[in-house]
Amino acid sequence: MDAIRVRGGRRLEGIIPISGAKNAALPILCATLLSDGESLLRNVPALRDIDTTSALLRFLGRKVDASPPLVRVFAGSDVRPEAPYELVKQMRASIMVLGPLLARFGRAKVSLPGGCQIGSRPVDQHLKGLEALGATISVQRGYIVAECKRLRGNEVVFDIPTVTGTENLMMAAALAKGRTTLVNCAREPEVEELGRVLNKMGAIVDGAGTDVIHIEGRDELAPFDHAIVADRIEAGTYMVAVAAAGGDVLLENAPLEYLEAVVAKLRQAGVEIGREGSSVRVRRGEKPLRAIDITTAPHPGFPTDMQAQMMVLMCVAQGTARIAETIFENRFMHVPELRRMGAMIDVDGHTAHVHGGVPLTGAKVMATDLRASASLVIAGLVTAENEETDVLRVYHLDRGYEHMETKLANVGADTTRIKGEAG
Ligand code: EPU
Repeated sequence: MDAIRVRGGRRLEGIIPISGAKNAALPILCATLLSDGESLLRNVPALRDIDTTSALLRFLGRKVDASPPLVRVFAGSDVRPEAPYELVKQMRASIMVLGPLLARFGRAKVSLPGGCQIGSRPVDQHLKGLEALGATISVQRGYIVAECKRLRGNEVVFDIPTVTGTENLMMAAALAKGRTTLVNCAREPEVEELGRVLNKMGAIVDGAGTDVIHIEGRDELAPFDHAIVADRIEAGTYMVAVAAAGGDVLLENAPLEYLEAVVAKLRQAGVEIGREGSSVRVRRGEKPLRAIDITTAPHPGFPTDMQAQMMVLMCVAQGTARIAETIFENRFMHVPELRRMGAMIDVDGHTAHVHGGVPLTGAKVMATDLRASASLVIAGLVTAENEETDVLRVYHLDRGYEHMETKLANVGADTTRIKGEAG
């Protein structure tokens, strides 16, 4: 397993290009199951989760030619509507083949995702929604087994907004007979992006990105050609990296419009952020940062996927910051690792109190979640010049950040990949 070695004390200067969004690309890859013919996805990031999804689509019988940023998916002669445990356990987002398989082929068998490092993460809302569209669902030997004749449009009211749940239902409804109304939907930009693709395929999707989505289903859908929107969480992560290490960096093709909550908090902390065309400039001078409080919330609130990175920033700010995690029950795994680097953080249930202004020191650290891994790389950047941090188990980082060590090194960070480091 690879590690990333970070030596601290460098300011960041230059340009970081932002890649396509992982969490937009994954549902859109699953949407290719809704049609025959050849679909083309552009601006796809080169990530392990994309490889896993490509492997899953191949298992299901699709031909996938994946050379990111271009991915071509075309229908093979046979389909096997079954997502095996071996693939689903690598990536929970595999659950998003359930809706398309069921709508298209009338049956699907998908391994029930287990809990994961950040929480138990049930899929009851996905199943409840598909049942409302007419599916019969049972759980047999760890697999969700779903069947239907033709799905029929209906009203589905989610108990809580769920991102992949909303996406699964949108895809299923796109091939259902009649009109579906989804209420209390996730409003994340990736949901909006899937809506654009389903519209290109011939469904009529209205309201994606708001809490009520209407979908007019079609008997057949067409393949599509689509360039994936830029990754707001990758952009936010590099904003925090620059803010923490200090410097002046242009984030090329960063979707500022989807980062309002993050940008507001960074500005409050004393970071300068400004739009320059389709890019975003992030600057932090010599003035110390201020501690700020954060509570994660569904979009447009502060994203849980930025919580770990922000916590590192608060380690170097002046004062005590209160960070509350409300989306996932166990998303503080980075805290013990940050403490090993000298951070002073108290955790009380879902709230962390971060006492800033304490210098971080290098250490060997590891994380079992991708955003936590990114936070540890940022922590390595803010240590002193002679300090060395090895972030182990980098395969988590590789699930969601395209060549992070190279992108950071290109703006002056001392970050290298060490091949085969035991972790
Ligand atoms: N939930 C339920 N029942 C369900 C579905 C969700 O109780 O049927 C709960 C979850 O346990 C959680 C909350 O609802 O407490 C919200 O979870 P959601 O379903 O929205 O999360 P997700 O769709 O599984 C996506 C992203 C995550 C991101 C969350 C929250 C993808 C592929 N994944 O997950 O991304 O953290 O939304 O914004 O889109 C990441 O990229 O690092 C990542 C974890």
